[in-house]
Amino acid sequence: MWTIESKYQEPDFYQQLERELLSLISGEKNLIANLANLSSWIYHSLPDLNWCGFYLWDEGDQELVLGPFQGKPACIRIKSGKGVCGSAYAEKRVLKVDDVFSFSGHIACDSNTQSELVIPLIQGEKVLGVLDLDSPKLSRFEKRDAEELSRIMQQLLPSLQP
Ligand code: SME
Repeated sequence: MWTIESKYQEPDFYQQLERELLSLISGEKNLIANLANLSSWIYHSLPDLNWCGFYLWDEGDQELVLGPFQGKPACIRIKSGKGVCGSAYAEKRVLKVDDVFSFSGHIACDSNTQSELVIPLIQGEKVLGVLDLDSPKLSRFEKRDAEELSRIMQQLLPSLQP
């Protein structure tokens, strides 16, 4: 029987996910609609997530602002350098946090969250925002998740730009 877990264990899981995500956004240029569908499909494809969504950099306000997501309501604004999301944004690098309570400055939106993975959306010199995944399990995310999701988002970025 196919389950989210068994599909996730397959070696080509991320290749398959990449095709599905590309197909979800193909032919549509509305950024919010596309990010909404991407967050939904990632949330429903990866096991053990309690939140998955985007924070987008607001040039005017100079901070990250909550974008499309799946999960419980979350904090709306995050300054550069603050929390896991703001740190990944400021440092322009993927942050994989095995235990959020050991991350100084972690912003707790959902008290169920135990581990977190944040992927910056980098285009040239700019960071457009971040993709944030939360899990209710400690050490939920592996190197494979960080590398593959980072690679996939970089692949998708050109198609997300108007
Ligand atoms: N935990 C994040 C805040 C966003 S929520 O997890 C949805 C952080 O520390 O930046």
